[in-house]
Amino acid sequence: MYTRIIGTGSYLPKQIVSNDELAKRVDTSDEWIFTRTGIRSRHIASGEETSSYMGHQASLKALAAAELQASDLDMIIVATTTPDKGLPNTACLLQERLGISAIPAFDITVACAGFIYALSVADQFIRTGSAKTILVVGAEVLTAVTDWSDRSTCVLFGDGAGAVIVQGSEKPGILSTHLHADGRQKDNLYIPSPLPGQARADEPSYIRMQGREVFRFAVKALGDVVEEALKANHLPQSAIDWLIPHQANLRIITATAEKLQLSMDKVVVTVDRHANTSAASVPLALDEAVRDGRIQRGQTLLLEAIGGGFVWGSALIVY
Ligand code: UT7
Repeated sequence: MYTRIIGTGSYLPKQIVSNDELAKRVDTSDEWIFTRTGIRSRHIASGEETSSYMGHQASLKALAAAELQASDLDMIIVATTTPDKGLPNTACLLQERLGISAIPAFDITVACAGFIYALSVADQFIRTGSAKTILVVGAEVLTAVTDWSDRSTCVLFGDGAGAVIVQGSEKPGILSTHLHADGRQKDNLYIPSPLPGQARADEPSYIRMQGREVFRFAVKALGDVVEEALKANHLPQSAIDWLIPHQANLRIITATAEKLQLSMDKVVVTVDRHANTSAASVPLALDEAVRDGRIQRGQTLLLEAIGGGFVWGSALIVY
């Protein structure tokens, strides 16, 4: 039994903010941001465009692509670091928006690697026969935890959501997933405290990052985890049709592609228009390339991501 992706969908907030517009708020420039990150613009959510709202919009598109109704789902998993509420979890809020009830619905908080982790969890439920059809969502409002006075972070993030429907099949689908974490890296990328009772006036709950350390670690960890996926499946680098990387920095993406000896026209890049949308970035990129026809049935996809923790992982998939 394999887990197959049978539908994808995504949602991006209406408001688009360019680097030039950001340069009016903080001491930065389009030239600096683009050269260091590959980012030109990002989508920024309005108050109504919460993770569950965007996840819902993305899910409706994924359900339509899969030719299924919400009532066909057995489970909802949402990867998010920016939930609508402390509780209920975002998956419950999404379940309610979808007009269904009773099926299990839970969030996982695995930062930018959240979608890879969520897909891996879904894969376990499907392969053991515990569920038939699962909605997996990555949804984030990172700009709500962005310090707009800190130029070293505020230029990097954006909002959005991506969704996939996965289903059990005898045809090949997810070949393997590979998950890792290293909590010793906790101080390199973090949000101080989500709990109002524990918030400190001298350290507001905005994303904090040691950019250079994250960059160094990401290049090594992602290079290793894509090799691990190929090795586990006894596949050569040439077997990959598409690399769908986490969209944090074009230089990190390029380094992973080089490690795989993959030309950049085999890499799905959205970081220029989406910036870093954390758990939403991989499903957003996947949906874009499925909908514009680049990704075709039967092709082999390699997904990877890394985020605060550090947490990282990959998934090798026959689409
Ligand atoms: O989602 C997963 C995780 N996140 C990532 O993968 C991000 C990983 N890290 C990165 O992408 C890069 O480290 C950054 C893009 C964040 C930063 O690039 P960098 O080449 O590592 O720059 P830096 O932090 O070493 O800063 C270089 C200089 C500094 O000035 P000085 O000290 O050399 O005078 C910064 O103050 O650039 C300055 N700087 C800026 N200048 C203009 C930092 N941010 C900005 C800015 N505009 N927005």
